[in-house]
Amino acid sequence: MIVAEIKVLDNGPLLVSGATLLDGEGDTMETKEQIYLCRCGLSANKPYCNGAHKGQFESQVRD
Ligand code: FES
Repeated sequence: MIVAEIKVLDNGPLLVSGATLLDGEGDTMETKEQIYLCRCGLSANKPYCNGAHKGQFESQVRD
């Protein structure tokens, strides 16, 4: 059984733990325990976060 956790980091990436990242053809891209995925669209290394979000991206906060 695969148990993954996805944490939405304030003003930053998605922190994915316990999952395997696959490309569009189903081939494994990454098997690290923790993967940071860009959600701001500014990374030059998508789908990974490269830190480009810092000071450039504010996530919406819901009450
Ligand atoms: S979330 Fe970090 S570069 Fe996009």
